[in-house]
Amino acid sequence: MRFDTLAVHAGEFPFTIDGAHPTAPPLVPASSYWYESVDDLDRVLGDAQPGYSYARYASPTVVGFEAAVAALEGAPAAVAFASGMAAIHAAVRACAPSPGAVLFASQDCYGGTFTLLNNTLTQEGLTVRFVDVFDLPALARRLAEERPAALLLEVVSNPLERVADLEAVLALGKTTGTPILVDSTFTTPYLIRPLSQGATAVIHSATKYLGGHGDVTGGVVACSSEEQAAGLRNWRKYTGAVLGVMEAYLSLRGVRTLSLRMTRQCANAAAVAHTLAGDRRIERVYYPGLAESPDYAVASRLFPEGLFGAMLAFAIRDADKPAVMGFLERLELIRAAPTMGDCFSLVLYPVIASHRGLTPAERRERGIHDNIVRFSAGIEDPADLLADLDQALA
Ligand SMILES: Cc1ncc(COP(=O)(O)O)c(C=O)c1O
Repeated sequence: MRFDTLAVHAGEFPFTIDGAHPTAPPLVPASSYWYESVDDLDRVLGDAQPGYSYARYASPTVVGFEAAVAALEGAPAAVAFASGMAAIHAAVRACAPSPGAVLFASQDCYGGTFTLLNNTLTQEGLTVRFVDVFDLPALARRLAEERPAALLLEVVSNPLERVADLEAVLALGKTTGTPILVDSTFTTPYLIRPLSQGATAVIHSATKYLGGHGDVTGGVVACSSEEQAAGLRNWRKYTGAVLGVMEAYLSLRGVRTLSLRMTRQCANAAAVAHTLAGDRRIERVYYPGLAESPDYAVASRLFPEGLFGAMLAFAIRDADKPAVMGFLERLELIRAAPTMGDCFSLVLYPVIASHRGLTPAERRERGIHDNIVRFSAGIEDPADLLADLDQALA
């Protein structure tokens, strides 16, 4: 089946009530299961027979969501977690289990990931080195010299929407024998499927596009082998970082409309980016679909034709922090909330949200100036989005 059909049907599982088949997946909230024969329970608990026994180990609605993600990513299996952070934690730990292991991570990764690696996992004995994934010659040298246990990177950076040359990074992974973990939250399998190009695992915050409706916290790792999935399931079983059943249900429902939402969201992002690029009140638009973007060529090569993601950022000319706060305040339709990827459009001000923990000098060093606002396109009519941006800028 093709991607759009898989999105609608993958992960369906057999379930009948009095001979009838529900058209929606069942939401099975049971925390444990019993069998007619205790011998069956014994065999299930001993892994001698497949089956459900305890919801922290597995439950049908979660397995349905995992099967859908695996199908969309072209993975042999996927393992769902309580959040994107839990998924990243598990995937990193699977690659770098021993104290003293060295992990490379992209220096402009999501702030939560940065803190997890730099504080929590560093305290646990992991050595983390943040690297520039846009400087490929330097990355090649460091991978060859330092031989890290893995490299974790995001395809699209936040908030400046740089697009990493994932093909080139995966090729470097292959030549240096480095497992590559790809956080594809911004791109989703609709834009890119890194496992087919040799990624070791693909991670998503299902809180964003997979869920898509602002009502789920979840994460998932699409694995490159069944063995890797078994390790992650075991980790989840004993750390307890399980995806809730309701969250699995909502995530699976979100996946059903992923293709339609992504098509529309990417088109809306393009409409906003092109309009703002021609607006004299805007100093600069950060969006890989603009011909003048430094990543236009890479994005055109990596993503399906005409799609450049649904995220952008823009710098408001001559605006200081109070002016930007005033702009955010005046938006009527578009909400300022610290998330992205939902069917409704959102803005985020990195200075008070994602990059709050950095000093002004650190932000400037990363090109995150006080007048930059991130925009996550939803599925509304683009004319309404542009009208809202226009009146708030005015
Ligand atoms: C790229 C990326 N990865 C991971 C996460 C963490 O996901 P969650 O909030 O579901 O734990 C986020 C959250 O914003 C993110 O933007």
